[in-house]
Amino acid sequence: MARKVEGTTMTEENQAQVTPMQQIEPQHHADKAPRESLVTVDDVTVKYSGSTAVEGVTFDIATNEITALIGASGCGKSTLLRCINRMNDLIPGAEVTGTINYKGVDLYGEKIDPVQVRKLIGMVFQKPNPFPKSIYDNVAFGPRVLGIKEDLDEIVEKSLRRASLWDEVKNRLNSSALGMSGGQQQRLCIARAIATSPDVILMDEPCSALDPISTGRIEDLMEELKTRYTIVIVTHNMQQAARVSDKTAFFTVNVNEDDKRFGQLVEFDDTEKIFTNPSDQRTEDYVTGKVG
Ligand SMILES: Nc1ncnc2c1ncn2[C@@H]1O[C@H](COP(=O)(O)OP(=O)(O)OP(=O)(O)O)[C@@H](O)[C@H]1O
Ligand SMILES: [Mg+2]
Repeated sequence: MARKVEGTTMTEENQAQVTPMQQIEPQHHADKAPRESLVTVDDVTVKYSGSTAVEGVTFDIATNEITALIGASGCGKSTLLRCINRMNDLIPGAEVTGTINYKGVDLYGEKIDPVQVRKLIGMVFQKPNPFPKSIYDNVAFGPRVLGIKEDLDEIVEKSLRRASLWDEVKNRLNSSALGMSGGQQQRLCIARAIATSPDVILMDEPCSALDPISTGRIEDLMEELKTRYTIVIVTHNMQQAARVSDKTAFFTVNVNEDDKRFGQLVEFDDTEKIFTNPSDQRTEDYVTGKVG
């Protein structure tokens, strides 16, 4: 069922709403099989100021898997990713139609608080973006926003450990995060996302600003994280998608009769199938590098 959600601005009032999201416990299953759908994306279209950016996207995101979104620049990967935790609400003119369910709850339902959505579905961006604060304060930021005052030391340590950063920073927690290397900063951003106990972590080209060694560390980290979290990653790196992901969604840019360009999902399947025996010729051309 399609319905429209205009971009909204967050206010203290809607942040304070009690919502069905708060009644849903995150499920950190380490050994869950078979994989169930955690998030379902159904016929999602996103427009910016009336122009369609991506149209009619449908796929399921399974628990404790890594789902990769791939495709040429401008096909709507970031746009679609941002829908999953309602980040598009913050973009003026963005308009989302279709349905995104998280554990059966419509994320765009009237009573849903976007702040709670982003607590459960965190995000890591392309460019490491630590706040100009100490390492500790970066990780404690999300819990503090959520009003958590107790056990902050424990939360910070656990998050940094899970982000594979603790040993490198445990003696400099009060130093500025801006003094860290790019790879460390990105792992700090992952720790910051983990600190609010999310269920899902969205990553938009998390390695594109990193050197190969830092990239390898983040890829290893993703493998570890998926035992506890569900990950959706946008990447332009085909090897990375093939190496780390379980499922892959391939998007392309279409041109309509009015010469308007918009993104579409071409194929969604097991990563192995997408890279070895895709169903659609366009997927094959892209993954084999014939078109880019
Ligand atoms: N904030 C915005 N305002 C208006 N249009 C936007 C905005 N963000 C993206 N778009 C448009 O939406 C379409 C999809 O963009 P998007 O950034 O989602 O693509 P992408 O697949 O992530 O590309 P890339 O690989 O270059 O990051 C593009 O035509 C883009 O110009
Ligand atoms: Mg993008």
